[in-house]
Amino acid sequence: METVVSGIRPTGNLHLGNYFGAVKNFLRLQDEYKCFFFIADWHSLTTHPKPGDVTANVRKILAEYLACGINPDKAAVYVQSDVKEILELYLFLNMNAYLGELQRVTSFKEKARKQPENVNAGLLTYPTLMAADIIIHKANKVPVGKDQEQNMEMARKFARRFNMIYGVDLFPEPESYHFTAEAVKVPGLDGSGKMGKSEGNAIYLIDDAATIRKKVMKAVTDSGPVEPNSVKPEAIENLFTMLKIVSSQDTYDYFNEKYNNCEIRYGDLKKQLAEDIIQFTSPIRERILEISADTDYMDKVVAVGAEKARESAAATMKEVRKIIGFK
Ligand code: TYM
Repeated sequence: METVVSGIRPTGNLHLGNYFGAVKNFLRLQDEYKCFFFIADWHSLTTHPKPGDVTANVRKILAEYLACGINPDKAAVYVQSDVKEILELYLFLNMNAYLGELQRVTSFKEKARKQPENVNAGLLTYPTLMAADIIIHKANKVPVGKDQEQNMEMARKFARRFNMIYGVDLFPEPESYHFTAEAVKVPGLDGSGKMGKSEGNAIYLIDDAATIRKKVMKAVTDSGPVEPNSVKPEAIENLFTMLKIVSSQDTYDYFNEKYNNCEIRYGDLKKQLAEDIIQFTSPIRERILEISADTDYMDKVVAVGAEKARESAAATMKEVRKIIGFK
C-alpha cells in the first residue's frame, strides 16, 4: 500500500489556505493509504526561535486537524518532535546537501530577507528536515499546497541522491499530491498573492461569523469593469478564485456573468462569499471548540500516533544506518 506523509507548522491557527491546499486532501487520502499526518514543531523554530508554550501551540493545530475530520484510527497523527529518528535522518541528509543548492531555495531567500537578523542554519536546512519527515516513512504522496513545490523538488532530489550515493533503492521519490490538476493556491483577499499567517490576510477556521464578514467585506476591489468581458485584475481574480473554492458553481457563474456584463456589485459578491465561507467553517469551528476542551483525548491521540510513526521511522533508520556503514 502506498504511503502518504504531510505536516503543518504550529505557528497559529489553520486558515482556509491550509485547509484547501492541504487538509482537504488529507481527508481524501486517509481512507485509502497508509497516512502519517504530523505537526511540524521543529520546523517552526526556524522562524520562531522562542515558541513559548509548544504544547499549547501544538494542541491548537491538533484540535483543528481532528475537527476537520482527520481520523486518528485511520491515520497516524503525531508531533514531529516525538519522533527523534527524524533528527538522525536529517543529520545524514545534511551530509549530502550542498550549500549552493540550499541557498538557492526561494523560500530561504525570502525568509532571509524578512528576518536578516536571524538567517540561521535551520532556515538554510529547512528542506533537508522536510525531506527527512517525508522519506523516513518512504512516502509516495505528499499532499501540500503550491507554495511547497520547491521543497518537494528538494525532497525528491535528496531521496534520489541517497539512493545513488549508496547504490540502493531504499527511498521512493515522493510526489506532491493534489486532487485538482494544478496544486492549489488559496489567494489573499488583500490584493496580494497567497493567503498566509505571516501575510496577515488569513481567514481562520476558528473565526466567528462576524469576524469573517468583516474580513471579507474589507477585501480589495476596484471601481468595476467598463468593457464587457474584461480581464480581471489580480485582486478581483482572487475574489473569484475564492468563490470557486467555497461557493457553488451557480454562484460563481452568476457573479462571473455580472462581471462580464459590467453589472457586478462587489458588495453583493462579498456578502455571498462571506456567507458561503461561514457555512463551510461554522461546523468545523464548533468541533474545534469541543475538541479543544478535551486535552486528555488530544494527548491520547498523539501518544498513539507517535507510537505508529516511531515504529515506521525506526524500521527505516535501521536500514539507513546499515547502508551507510553503521553496525
Ligand atoms: P505550512 O505550515 O506553511 O502550511 C501547511 C500547509 O498548508 C498549505 N498552504 C496553502 N495552500 C494553498 N494556498 C495557501 N494560501 C496556503 N497556505 C498554506 C501549505 O502548502 C502546506 O501544505 N513546510 C511545510 C510543513 C512541513 C511539511 C513537511 C509538509 C514540514 N515538513 C513534510 C509536508 C511534508 C510548511 O511550512 O507548511
